[in-house]
Amino acid sequence: MRIRAAGLAKRYPGSERAVLDGLDLDVEADALAVIGPSGGGKSTFLRILGGLLAPDAGTVEMDGERVDYDEASLPAYRASIGYVFQQNGLFQHLSARENVVMPLVRVHGLSREEAGRRADELLGRFGLAEVADQLPAQLSGGQQQRAAIARAIAPRPRLVLLDEPTSALDPAYTVDILDLLDALRRDGMRFVIVTHEMGFARRACDACAFLDGGRIVECGPSEQVFEAPAHEQTRAFLGRLLEWR
Ligand SMILES: Nc1ncnc2c1ncn2[C@@H]1O[C@H](COP(=O)(O)OP(=O)(O)O)[C@@H](O)[C@H]1O
Ligand SMILES: [Mg+2]
Repeated sequence: MRIRAAGLAKRYPGSERAVLDGLDLDVEADALAVIGPSGGGKSTFLRILGGLLAPDAGTVEMDGERVDYDEASLPAYRASIGYVFQQNGLFQHLSARENVVMPLVRVHGLSREEAGRRADELLGRFGLAEVADQLPAQLSGGQQQRAAIARAIAPRPRLVLLDEPTSALDPAYTVDILDLLDALRRDGMRFVIVTHEMGFARRACDACAFLDGGRIVECGPSEQVFEAPAHEQTRAFLGRLLEWR
């Protein structure tokens, strides 16, 4: 997957400061980690990549195809991408199974039968068969995130965007989710993940982008970014993290 962003700018209405400020990125990777300090613009960048938010300026290309942020074109683009949020990404009034089934039927036009088959297969594979009929609030945080991942990948999107999918989880559930993502990656799922799990960014992702102050400071093969960061800003960020190990 090739992702190119050029000159991306975004300022939220009523806010003084631009969140993204001429962000450039050109990367070829099947698993891309986006790391960086809070407030740097990672979620905003991900929302623009996913077509949930339009930039004020700049362009995005996915595999050579320019994303059209026109309201008329966005729904089809959004439907081609899976999204997993930090938490509460599920419809709270629907069972885990219905969370997977409903978008397949409503957005992707599958029959309920076919959608149900896909949901059961994924929920079974993710160890959720027994809790498939429960509401999100009745599930553990780890189970909720597994259901959210099932929902995101069920339509077979070309790309899955994950925004700190483990940040709200206990350590044991975090490992569980990271293992699952790693297995899905080996099966061919392509993703961009915003994460503070540096071990995952380094070992499970082929490229890593460091985003700070509304720009990509550097992006390269994960091993290289962690072993030999090219920029002082990246070194300082990684250095602060390493102090706590
Ligand atoms: N919907 C919004 N309206 C106004 N400001 C926002 C909104 N979303 C994020 N921000 C601000 O934009 C900045 C960057 O946010 P974000 O993209 O969430 O960064 P990150 O994910 O790296 O923490 C933060 O200072 C945040 O307060
Ligand atoms: Mg964020």
